[in-house]
Amino acid sequence: MRTDKWLRPNIRRLKPYRSAREEHPSEQALFLDANENSLGSPGPEPLNRYPDPLQKKLKMELAQLKNVAPENIFLGNGSDEAIDLLIRAFCEPAAQRILITPPTYGMYRVCADINNVAVDEAPLNDDFSLNTERVRTALTPHTRLLFLCSPNNPTANLMDEQAIRTLLDNMDGLVIIDEAYIDFAETQGWLPRLNDYENLVVLQTFSKAWGLAGARLGMAFAHPAVIDVLNRIKYPYNVNRLTQQAALEALRHYDCYQRMKSDLIRERHWLSEQLKVLPVMDQVWPSRANFILVRSTRARDIYHKLAARNILIRYRGDLPLCPGCLRITVGTHEENQRLIGALQSLTF
Ligand SMILES: Cc1ncc(COP(=O)(O)O)c(C=O)c1O
Repeated sequence: MRTDKWLRPNIRRLKPYRSAREEHPSEQALFLDANENSLGSPGPEPLNRYPDPLQKKLKMELAQLKNVAPENIFLGNGSDEAIDLLIRAFCEPAAQRILITPPTYGMYRVCADINNVAVDEAPLNDDFSLNTERVRTALTPHTRLLFLCSPNNPTANLMDEQAIRTLLDNMDGLVIIDEAYIDFAETQGWLPRLNDYENLVVLQTFSKAWGLAGARLGMAFAHPAVIDVLNRIKYPYNVNRLTQQAALEALRHYDCYQRMKSDLIRERHWLSEQLKVLPVMDQVWPSRANFILVRSTRARDIYHKLAARNILIRYRGDLPLCPGCLRITVGTHEENQRLIGALQSLTF
């Protein structure tokens, strides 16, 4: 298994924290092992007991939904936790490197910077597609992780399947495909191919289509050897009891998730058409996510004038390939109407 070769030696040697309950699993025991408050907790929710460190119930349900084995699933405090743990597990600070494809999600670099891990860049093509040649040239013998984002934030496009396949075949390290927005892409993404590649990691989240950004729950799907590493180095109780309950409850309301997803996709089409006819917009890119990237020579002005009206969007003009770009999240129909009304009435 190549995972072992890629691991940092200190992580390979690590003896993880283990609670007594992991050694003797029981629902009914006298729980006098963890210095909890045996009397209870204030408020309506009983929270005096530590949560299940491996979130087994939730993983059983997710495994069914995603058609993978529970051993393929890691759950974290947002997918941001998985990004950080992957870097910490596989990249020796000041020695090994990650590769990213800008413009893309900012946390890959932030997590690498925090861990003193060097970041190499292979920018996307002008049309925001992957430039595999650039990626291959930017790979070094020290590159352990390649982060791809599909649909990409902030460009909202899917990355080409064949290009990713080639990279998976050639990478001597992990290829992480961040699918935070895959629910909106109307395609199945990379999970069905999980068993084909021992170096594939797929990230998904409850923060977007599931509407649980406030609960902080992210998913990483990978070969059990990679998942085992993440579980060994995470904080023991990284997903709290309330979050596990909220996710189980959300899964019981799959119809609500589906409705929100299709409503947002419908709204995305509406908003996109409205933006296209605004004279102030020079370009409106197609989107497979729940946001739309637009370009305007007035981008900065638009951003500030909308903020003055209490409408917040994201200025992305400082990212590579994105001069004059704004990223707009699809809102409710009323919110989108208000945004379009405000844009129509702006004067410069
Ligand atoms: C591409 C991408 N990945 C991951 C995340 C983080 O998701 P989470 O809320 O699960 O940490 C975001 C959040 O905006 C994102 O855009």
